[in-house]
Amino acid sequence: MAILAPSILSADFSNLGQQIRLAELGGADWIHCDVMDGQFVPNITFGPLIIKAVKKSTHLPLDVHLMIKNPDNYIESFINAGADYLTVHLEAAPHLNRTVNRIKELGCKAGVSINPSTPVSTLTEIAEYTDMILLMSVNPGFGGQSFIPTVLKKVEKLVELREKLNARFFIEIDGGIDTSTILPSLHAGVDVFVTGSSVFGADNITAAAAKLKNMLNSNS
Ligand code: DX5
Ligand code: ZN
Repeated sequence: MAILAPSILSADFSNLGQQIRLAELGGADWIHCDVMDGQFVPNITFGPLIIKAVKKSTHLPLDVHLMIKNPDNYIESFINAGADYLTVHLEAAPHLNRTVNRIKELGCKAGVSINPSTPVSTLTEIAEYTDMILLMSVNPGFGGQSFIPTVLKKVEKLVELREKLNARFFIEIDGGIDTSTILPSLHAGVDVFVTGSSVFGADNITAAAAKLKNMLNSNS
């Protein structure tokens, strides 16, 4: 089943609960929450407080994407705030095997993300320990950027790696996913689709989510 995970980064934060309900009505499967510290990426968003608030407004799984330095310092607080998936960046976690095991010890699903120019080969020793690998298809930090098409080759390499390892992690793609890029991503082998501006930036959030979800359902 292809999973639609709208990102609240592009939502109207003065009305966050209602915006999430609209996405849910349109068929969203997860809610993607982009945490940024202004250090690892050139933007600052929100912390565990907002995760706690989002948890109160939906029963959907929370897919928390940490674009922060020193993620080990914050694992517990994001899991206690309600993260169901917690994804750290390989580029920000020097002790990645310990970080991933810690997330799982605390009862949360563990994800690892790599930026567009980080090769899939860097994941060889960690992928099988994860529940999800997140491939960035934009340079992290902002919504509304253009899709980087070379990432589709990385998806195909990751599918091969998963088969070689006989592993079962989800493959998630994040950045520039809309009606023109979602099907090429699905056909390359993506399981989870993060959609920020194409859903929460749309005039009609419910219809935008439903259109993307229907495209996934009728092609998978
Ligand atoms: C970017 C974030 C993405 C972003 C996606 O750093 O990780 O999740 O919100 O936004 P769109 O879908 O608008 O590219
Ligand atoms: Zn993200």
